[in-house]
Amino acid sequence: MNALAATNRNFRHSARILGLDSKLERSLLIPFREIKVECSIPKDDGSLATYVGFRVQHDNARGPMKGGIRYHPEVDPDEVNALAQLMTWKTAVADIPYGGAKGGIGCNPKDLSLSELERLTRVFTQKIHDLIGIHTDVPAPDMGTNPQTMAWILDEYSKFYGHSPAVVTGKPIDLGGSLGRDAATGRGCVFATEALLAEYGKSINNLKFAIQGFGNVGSWVARLIHKRGGKVVAVSDITGAVKNPNGLNIPELLAHKEKTGSLEGFHGGDDMDTTELLVHKCDVLIPCALGGVLNRDNAANVKAKFIIEAANHPTDPEADEILSKKGVVILPDIYANSGGVTVSYFEWVQNIQGFMWDEEKVNAELKKYMTRGFNNIKDTCKTHDCNLRMGAFALGVSRVARATLLRGWEA
Ligand SMILES: NC(=O)c1ccc[n+]([C@@H]2O[C@H](COP(=O)([O-])OP(=O)(O)OC[C@H]3O[C@@H](n4cnc5c(N)ncnc54)[C@H](O)[C@@H]3O)[C@@H](O)[C@H]2O)c1
Repeated sequence: MNALAATNRNFRHSARILGLDSKLERSLLIPFREIKVECSIPKDDGSLATYVGFRVQHDNARGPMKGGIRYHPEVDPDEVNALAQLMTWKTAVADIPYGGAKGGIGCNPKDLSLSELERLTRVFTQKIHDLIGIHTDVPAPDMGTNPQTMAWILDEYSKFYGHSPAVVTGKPIDLGGSLGRDAATGRGCVFATEALLAEYGKSINNLKFAIQGFGNVGSWVARLIHKRGGKVVAVSDITGAVKNPNGLNIPELLAHKEKTGSLEGFHGGDDMDTTELLVHKCDVLIPCALGGVLNRDNAANVKAKFIIEAANHPTDPEADEILSKKGVVILPDIYANSGGVTVSYFEWVQNIQGFMWDEEKVNAELKKYMTRGFNNIKDTCKTHDCNLRMGAFALGVSRVARATLLRGWEA
């Protein structure tokens, strides 16, 4: 089942739980606006190249739409659609005043020079500048884009509207980016893990963790768990996997990865097969890499009691069912990885206020939002007698539905 079908299924299930009427259900599902633009740029060699840019703006009942822009050869409109919808529910679960959006350009950023990437970003911004904005739609980095991409969008947009740092988040700190944004998704995920474990009378120290992915999210998750006394017994990324039943020394593993470019050959652990990571013996499994990694082929062999979905859509619906039957508790992506968009919201607030926060304030506010989010989901689960994924969807969908009804339907 692809991401759009899985998201629609979860949405429809939550709409049934909430008893939404069919008119409202249909209105919430259909995107507010879908944008497709041609982006032609001169290449460095003088030839002309044309790319297609997308932006799906899903819903704005609760505030400006918010979501990433990805540069990827297979930017698939269906997937962008699903991700835009997920952002609507995710911002509502986090209780930040945003709707959802997602976008991208069908290109391979590795095939483009820095100046070609800059031209492409500026042309895309020129094509959509009147459809994004501080109070309309606020893009952020995603796969294949980064703070530099946001800096170019900010610069191009500001040519039309004057200095507008709040039009994008995930910017470089020098242009109004927030302290703590880099670590935010990983840190938020660890706060979410603490809230879940506390519910079961457990804490991070003394538990064993396996982490798939050692990029931005995975490396921060590993670092913060290690700091809290948790044992990270296995880590994998695209370069390999490493294990140590007594716990890996994460600062040393980070230094090894930095020096050699690979997880393999680390003196403080043993190399293992990357496919073993998801079924490795541990208490808590944290997928921080790709979607669909937990599926009917491996779900029955998962040993973890808890799964924290740091990646987007790591568990496909079949695996979800198998794992639930085994009694595995899954903390769903729309809540577990919402720390990034929450600190993006703090960045937007700081830009609008023209007053920047120190990192302690960012982290303390993030903890408040993540803890409150978990408690809200837990209450929703009790009310509707459902699991955490459905609780999170029902919470997000009910908030958007209420906002929609309050605004009314009159044209
Ligand atoms: N960065 C954020 O703020 C953010 C926010 C919300 C959700 N997410 C989601 O979290 C996930 C990770 O994002 P990121 O920003 O850390 O990306 P990243 O590109 O920094 O890291 C991805 C990691 O996954 C690893 N990986 C790729 N293929 C793998 C494989 N087959 N087996 C094991 N590891 C593999 C890579 O080596 C890398 O370590 C994605 O699903 C992303 O959508 C990220």
